[in-house]
Amino acid sequence: MRGRFITFEGGEGTGKSTHAAMLAERLKSFGIRVQLTREPGGSPGAEIMRHLLLSGVARPLGADVEAVLFAAARDDHLATLIRPALEKGRWVVCDRFADSTRVYQGAAGRVDPKIIRAMERVVVGDTKPDLTLILDVPAKEGMRRATERRGEGTVDRVEAEALAFHEKLRDGFLTLAANEPDRCVLIDATLSKEEVGEQIWRVVTKKLDPATAPIEFEDAAS
Ligand code: TMP
Repeated sequence: MRGRFITFEGGEGTGKSTHAAMLAERLKSFGIRVQLTREPGGSPGAEIMRHLLLSGVARPLGADVEAVLFAAARDDHLATLIRPALEKGRWVVCDRFADSTRVYQGAAGRVDPKIIRAMERVVVGDTKPDLTLILDVPAKEGMRRATERRGEGTVDRVEAEALAFHEKLRDGFLTLAANEPDRCVLIDATLSKEEVGEQIWRVVTKKLDPATAPIEFEDAAS
C-alpha cells in the first residue's frame, strides 16, 4: 500500500520545519515508517541545487532559470527519495514542495504561472501531496521570527527581500488554500508551538487516519 504524502507550506518564519519534524515524530510513535525531508534539497543532487539557489549564485541567471532549477531539484528528489519511499509504504513528510514554486516564483515572483503549471505537470505528475498544511502568520511576524532564528547568521537571499514581497507570499498561500480546500488546510501558526502541533495532529488524524496505516517498527528491513 502506497504511503501518504504530506507537505508543509508557508512563508518565512512560520515554523514549518519545527512542525514537520514534530509531526514525523508523532507518526513514528504510532509505528508508522516516516521519511522526513525538505525542499529545495532532500536528495544529494537536489541539495547541490539548494546551495546554488539559496546562496544567490544562480540569481544572475534570472527568475525563469531559478524556477527551472527548483523544478530540477524536485525531479531528483521525487525520483530518488519521495517515490521510492511512498512505494515502500512509508509516509513522506516534506518541508515545502511544488506550492512553494507556485507562490514564491509565480504569485509573488516574476515567472509566468503557466510555465510553472507546465513544469509541475511534468515533474510532479501523479505524485501530488495527499495533504498540504499551510502555516499562516502575518508577514511582519514571520519576518520577525525568521530574523530572531537567524541571530547573527547571514541573511539568505529571500529573507532579505522587502516586507511587500512577504505580504505577497502570504496572499499567495491564502489564495492557494482557498482554491484547493480538499488538499490544503490553513493552520493558524500565531498560536503556541503546542497548540499549532495539536491543530496539525487533528487535521492529519481526520484526513488521513494514521490508525489504519500498516505498522512497522524502525528496525524492520527498509
Ligand atoms: P527554507 O528551507 O528556509 O524554507 O528555505 C527555502 C527557501 O527557498 C525559502 O525562502 C523559499 C524558497 N523556495 C522557493 O522560492 N521556491 C521553491 O520551490 C522552494 C521549494 C523554496
